[in-house]
Amino acid sequence: MQVLNAFDYKPRTRVVFGAGSIVQIGKLANELGFLRTLMVADHGLVASGHVEEALEPLKAAGIKVVPFHDFETNPDSLMVQAGADFARAENIDSIIGLGGGSSMDCAKGINFLITNGGRMADYRGYGKTRVPLLPMIGIPTTSGTGSEAQSFALISDSETHIKMACGDPGAAFRVALLDPALTVSQPRIITATAGFDALAHAVETFVTTKHNAVSDLFSREAWRLLESNYELVLDDPGNLEARGAMQLGAYYAGLAIENSMLGATHACANPLTARYGTAHGEAIAMLLPTVVRWNESAAANRYEELLLLSTADKTGQLHSATEALAQRLEELATAGGLHTRLSQAGISDSDFSALAADAAEQWTGTFNPRTFNVQGALEVYRCAY
Ligand SMILES: [Fe+2]
Repeated sequence: MQVLNAFDYKPRTRVVFGAGSIVQIGKLANELGFLRTLMVADHGLVASGHVEEALEPLKAAGIKVVPFHDFETNPDSLMVQAGADFARAENIDSIIGLGGGSSMDCAKGINFLITNGGRMADYRGYGKTRVPLLPMIGIPTTSGTGSEAQSFALISDSETHIKMACGDPGAAFRVALLDPALTVSQPRIITATAGFDALAHAVETFVTTKHNAVSDLFSREAWRLLESNYELVLDDPGNLEARGAMQLGAYYAGLAIENSMLGATHACANPLTARYGTAHGEAIAMLLPTVVRWNESAAANRYEELLLLSTADKTGQLHSATEALAQRLEELATAGGLHTRLSQAGISDSDFSALAADAAEQWTGTFNPRTFNVQGALEVYRCAY
């Protein structure tokens, strides 16, 4: 059971949840003393009208907002550097990250550079800052990465395309504002990929070598909410109840990562994004069921617990709970219109050796319940082909 795994849990983020809660952003920013704030929001957000929705209450609260939209999905170190150069000249005292994981990670990255200088790579790892970061508010508009719950920024190195995990207690948002109404406008493919990523966070965090009593609380509840609402939110995108459940599930899964880390699925997914530009959630969907099967010898009891918490038909399934869970995950990926095999996405098996070498270098793989190395990564890619 590993209930004796040690933990050190310090909540660093105030969480405000509710449909329509975006109107509180001015008051929340005032309470934190924001006077001149950088709003980091991707281009898509501007078009959705959500930036306007956030600007109004901020302006009404007397806060000057400096917008920054000049970055892409999976922000890299050059984009963050450009954002920091821009923000430095604007003399800001705070940052708001509004959008998906890319906006929130970009906000965190800019914060590292404008307060502590240097380059993004200097902050790889944890706790590398010398002076405090600026206070930040995170407002997720997708239900996926859980970045709003984490003290890590994931920034790709612009030269090597390797995803760098840059963590610091000060990189946690002071407030996470969760308004499910903001997630209604996301395109179906984003609901599908971001939602599947969140599902994978719940599953992977539940079985890592670091999982503990606190991370288990978050993983279980995340899984329960995400598994039972994923298909619902795809079938009925305007269902605010289901949207709220997905958003909370993604948030809890983010907290689970913060307390337990991730595993082989993420280790194998990151090289696909680096090499082929595969969207993170799409890569995860093609790998998670295979990794669950591959981990069976080390995590069968844990997977059975997740299966029992799920809405899947368990009749006659408990003799092979791991396989039943893997099949349920494939069913969910298919509901999202996502590929479940690497061959369907044009990934070439001749690249597997190079991909496996990169996957084995991923920090997150070290927390996988079954020892993960180049050989293991190769097996995962082959079985997922
Ligand atoms: Fe992920």
